[in-house]
Amino acid sequence: MQVQSNFSLRHLNTFGLDADARFFVNVTSVEELTEILLDPVWQASPKFVLGGGSNILLTQDVEALVIHPDIKGISIVKEDEEGVILQVGAGENWHQFVMYCVEHGYGGVENLSLIPGTVGAAPMQNIGAYGVEIRSVIVSVEAVSIDNAQKRIFSNAECEFGYRESIFKKALKDKYIITGATFRLNKKPVLNIGYGDVQKTLQEMNAATPTIKDVSEAIIKIRQSKLPDPAEIGNAGSFFKNPEIPVAQFEKLRSAYPEIPGYPVSSEMVKVPAGWLIEKAGWKGYREGAIGVHARQALVLVNYGGGVGKDIKALSEKVQNSVEAQFGIRLHAEVNFI
Ligand code: EPU
Repeated sequence: MQVQSNFSLRHLNTFGLDADARFFVNVTSVEELTEILLDPVWQASPKFVLGGGSNILLTQDVEALVIHPDIKGISIVKEDEEGVILQVGAGENWHQFVMYCVEHGYGGVENLSLIPGTVGAAPMQNIGAYGVEIRSVIVSVEAVSIDNAQKRIFSNAECEFGYRESIFKKALKDKYIITGATFRLNKKPVLNIGYGDVQKTLQEMNAATPTIKDVSEAIIKIRQSKLPDPAEIGNAGSFFKNPEIPVAQFEKLRSAYPEIPGYPVSSEMVKVPAGWLIEKAGWKGYREGAIGVHARQALVLVNYGGGVGKDIKALSEKVQNSVEAQFGIRLHAEVNFI
């Protein structure tokens, strides 16, 4: 384990932005992590945890010790006819973990195929797609306190999961480093294929009685058709959260825009797709030099190469202001600004 200085984070963020970490260390075990956290040399330094870098916007250099949890391993904790409990290191690539489950016939995460990032970062924002959130398969999350290197296991309930939220983004923000997670997967899964696009794609694939693998393949097809591949075009997936508005406000908007999509989340609130609002406000496919709004999914801001984090932030504010002016809805970023 070696601490490096002025380390470029360009290959460690999916926006592909060029920013430096003042100090950087890759940790491959809980022991290494404990050692660095308790090292008197680094005790007083500000610390920043960088997982897969798939949900951050680097607007400046990071004046901290950047810790990159690279703890690997997938192990079976328990297995029976019904299912399996797996413990997975935080540094495992999320999609590769999903592929491992799909290949072994372990159901529960197939709808979360192709989401960029690491296993350790996934619970932070309760990743979700096509009707499934990671909260539905998490047994517990293992973490280490940044202040004193104490280990703690958070039960699913203690993670306080919400829509793109968890305790690690709220009350315990910047307090813990996730070192691994334990998942319960099902060998006789109930597939979640209610989402319109998923049904349609499975039909096109002629999968009348779909398997876990079929669902995963369908999700991969859908994502590849809409979302830019960060290896080709820098991006961090959805830039904003889908806003929830009161029913009365939604009805008022619907009288002006009869085609506005909305999904009830309670008897009082309706969730509106931010992508629709941004497209309607005229931003879809907008380009400003090296950065822009993706042409196939307006919720995704992109760096075509050579873009600067500050400019993406400025563009996101323009989008926010224009959506608010037109619809009276303030969008909130899903990505974390550094
Ligand atoms: N829409 C538009 N224009 C656009 C984009 C979307 O009109 O440019 C409309 C669509 O027509 C559709 C609705 O918005 O009626 C929903 O679109 P989509 O199914 O693409 O999903 P989303 O709400 O835009 C959310 C997640 C995605 C996730 C998909 C699928 C959030 C912030 N985003 O997007 O998650 O993959 O649903 O479940 O909740 C991510 O978090 O990075 C991410 C990609």
